[in-house]
Amino acid sequence: MCGIVGYVGDKESAPILVSGLKKLEYRGYDSAGVAVMNRNVLNVVRATGKLKNLETRVQTDVPQGTIGIGHTRWATHGRPSDENAHPHTYGGVAVVHNGIIENHLALKEELRSKGHHFSSETDSEVFAHLISDELKSGLDLPAAVRAAIAQVKGTYALAVVTTSDPNRIVCTKDSSPMVLGLGQGQNFVASDVPALLEHTRDFVYMEEGDLAVITASNVDIYGRTGQKVNRPTRRIDWTPMMAEKGGHKHFMHKEIMEQPRAVADTLRGRMLLSEGDVHFEGWNLSPEKVRALTKITILACGTSWHSGIAGKAMIESLARLPVEVELASEFRYRDPIVEPSHLAIAISQSGETADTLAAFKEAKARGATALALCNVIGSAMTREADITILTNAGPEIGVASTKAFTTQLVGLYLLAVKLGRMRGTLTVKAAQEHLTALTEIPKMIEDVLKCEASVKRVAREFMNAQDFLFLGRGPMHPVALEGALKLKEISYIHAEGYAGGEMKHGPIALIDEKMPVVVIAPKQPHVAYEKIIGNIEEVRARGGKVIAIIDEDDAHVASLADHVIRIPAASALLAPVVATIPLQLLAYHVADLRGNDVDQPRNLAKSVTVE
Ligand code: G6P
Repeated sequence: MCGIVGYVGDKESAPILVSGLKKLEYRGYDSAGVAVMNRNVLNVVRATGKLKNLETRVQTDVPQGTIGIGHTRWATHGRPSDENAHPHTYGGVAVVHNGIIENHLALKEELRSKGHHFSSETDSEVFAHLISDELKSGLDLPAAVRAAIAQVKGTYALAVVTTSDPNRIVCTKDSSPMVLGLGQGQNFVASDVPALLEHTRDFVYMEEGDLAVITASNVDIYGRTGQKVNRPTRRIDWTPMMAEKGGHKHFMHKEIMEQPRAVADTLRGRMLLSEGDVHFEGWNLSPEKVRALTKITILACGTSWHSGIAGKAMIESLARLPVEVELASEFRYRDPIVEPSHLAIAISQSGETADTLAAFKEAKARGATALALCNVIGSAMTREADITILTNAGPEIGVASTKAFTTQLVGLYLLAVKLGRMRGTLTVKAAQEHLTALTEIPKMIEDVLKCEASVKRVAREFMNAQDFLFLGRGPMHPVALEGALKLKEISYIHAEGYAGGEMKHGPIALIDEKMPVVVIAPKQPHVAYEKIIGNIEEVRARGGKVIAIIDEDDAHVASLADHVIRIPAASALLAPVVATIPLQLLAYHVADLRGNDVDQPRNLAKSVTVE
């Protein structure tokens, strides 16, 4: 998501800022900008789209000054545009921000009543206004920044400069990343190490609540309560490529490990626990319209289609509305029945998949209301949609989708709760229980990620298998499909995902002692636990090797399986989020052990923009 770079020293800052921002491109962004200060003159240059647009503007009219801040923006509040791009300025203050201010509407209201005017749709601009007011009241810049963040609810990495104090950058962070780069006669700040590697290898990682005051010759850090603190300086020996992956061997591994954070970001600001309700920004469907809906059609491809199958169970169970899940490539070429009382949901990481987009347009043209569940704001699907729900997973670079899938699942769960409340099928109390269950998911993902070592052992044993079968029932059926897809995409081993009940109708013919069968068998009522045990027995009877994904306390299946991977018990409809993680790791390690190009598997593309 957003990237921040700041510089103070004796060189012209604009080129340093732009080149640092380039190293943060992998984070994903849709506009960019810099603010460069020359004594008490602030020059701001911003541009929508790729960094080369900003670069062209900066080169035509080079903003002069040896102190400055820069930003790449991945839009969350307000579309990508020059006005919404950072830095935001007010009263001689310029800010760049990464994160979300949850109470920005209330703060804006309050500031407007004091005569403030806002020039963007962003939440971040609030910081410039708050800090400017605090400076006017007589505080110095560090104190003004502290006073401003005390009024804000949300997450932030923030860098600030002001014309009234033109030799220093003040920055602070909570939940969003920020590192300080140390140089000779110059110092830096950035969202991530790669932005600064060409200037320094000495870094200080800021901790939650830290505030740093940076001049050309000095860096002081203060903890949350204002006391001066010493944070260790680390020498980073990463190559630029490795650094972009945050020390992980592959983007896919990094993205698997990021899932607790990604899922928390999907939930953030949306759960109204005390009201037992869900808030989606830009939701514009009236209760009458929602009650009048007769059907939901989910349109998607690939991994997103799998999340749609899990979403069907969630929505039908919580909102009691029939849901069809369609492969977008099939739907668009049929003569589908679509009515104005239908809601069409496009699920897409990229928002650009050609088949999904065409199917979505088709459904809309035939009168359906169009909702996009998407990871990229400003993408074609979000532009087509009447309503967009962002998954907020951050940029996904590995071709095999991981965090996009799990964030789609929790996005669908939130939607199911919202629809259930609006349609009166969920009481406040029931909704509260569902939301509480959701709050536990990031921690459960953290716990399940600890199974990596045992998954790797399984991967080593079966890395040369010719075929794999994945079985699941009920909510675990899409997990089986996704497990098989992950494995075939990156390991090139043939793999099939099947509903357990269908095993006797075909795949059982393939089972012999060379066939590993991954059975996803948490003890959930909907998963037909007894029945999946029957499948395990049938596999064993034919000599197949059983790898079982089971609850932590399940001794019975453990006694039947050749290998077990244990996961924490989540509620039935949320268990797919947790159960998918070991399968992602299995695919990753098999592919890595086989020496494959994990992030860019042969023949596959991240975003399939042609049919
Ligand atoms: C490609 C990607 C998959 C993805 C699918 C749908 O095949 O390799 O990982 O699931 O497209 O992409 P979307 O961006 O629409 O979710």
